[in-house]
Amino acid sequence: MSTLTTAPTLSPTVNSAVFYEAHTGLTAPRKTLSPWLFYDEAGSQLFERITQLPEYYLTRTERAIFAAHADEIIQRAADSVTHPAPALTLIELGAGTATKTGILLTATVRRQGGVVYQPVDVSESALAEASENILSNIPGVTVRCQVADYTREPLPLDRLPNTRTLALYIGSSIGNFAPADAIEVLANLRAQLQPGDRLLLGTDLAPGTHKTTEDLLSAYNDAAGTTAAFNLNVLTRLNRDLGANFKIANFRHQACWNPHESRIEMHLEATQSHTVTIPGISSLHFSQGETIHTENSYKFTPQAIAALLDSSGFTSTQTWNDPQALFAVTLATAV
Ligand code: AVI
Repeated sequence: MSTLTTAPTLSPTVNSAVFYEAHTGLTAPRKTLSPWLFYDEAGSQLFERITQLPEYYLTRTERAIFAAHADEIIQRAADSVTHPAPALTLIELGAGTATKTGILLTATVRRQGGVVYQPVDVSESALAEASENILSNIPGVTVRCQVADYTREPLPLDRLPNTRTLALYIGSSIGNFAPADAIEVLANLRAQLQPGDRLLLGTDLAPGTHKTTEDLLSAYNDAAGTTAAFNLNVLTRLNRDLGANFKIANFRHQACWNPHESRIEMHLEATQSHTVTIPGISSLHFSQGETIHTENSYKFTPQAIAALLDSSGFTSTQTWNDPQALFAVTLATAV
């Protein structure tokens, strides 16, 4: 039987966090906004649409890797010198609607009969959708949703006796952190795991033999303009949440490849010189061509993945790729 428990909702501090981000980011000499601001209700829906775009290969490629190797991934995660091997409990950081996770949960249920799954996310509505999907499609899963910001708060982990935790951090979410912050997020996770627990990390790969810079650029600048709408939606959010008066038509979406940092950068570029007001913040001047830097999406070499894991208290155990080596799914062990 599948069951569901839900943790308390987020405290109503979201608007002050939005204000803090806007204040610090937009009054800096180079204007920035944090990418978490993308994910209001409209932004989360736009992101779902991005994941289905023909140009955005990341989601379907990672899903294909899971589909091809789920049993092996779960088998390797459970591998143990002790007999019987411990049952796995799955937690997922930034689970969202958990659309790909079902493949791994199904493989886990196949292996051990049932599984406790703890998705952690800031979006209560995404978690509700995730639970509903999983509970109605995968018998044998117990879902314990946790509404929390895993980047700022200790993880609300619920460790069951005689189990091993497999933490999922998939979807290339780690790529949205600067290198030092990525280490901090994973080290924070590691601090709450025990030696031998596992991490399954999904990372998008740097351009190489099969992947060109153009492939990357079109994934972040799709023909239908969905990524542009996703990027621009952050200004609509500031208008709504903070009473700002951004004119959306005064900005355009920009995505570029920064080879020195191995990352795609997203910016919002002012198409003309103008001024914006946000109550509580002195008026903001934009010159024509000036940008707000809204997101970094780091792309990794195999060596960079190993180094990141190593610096965060994990060791790489096995990696699975798609045939074109666009994406990597790495199983790591807490040391
Ligand atoms: C959520 N994250 C992994 C996405 C990415 O590819 O960096 C966010 C995104 N930004 C634009 N398109 C998708």
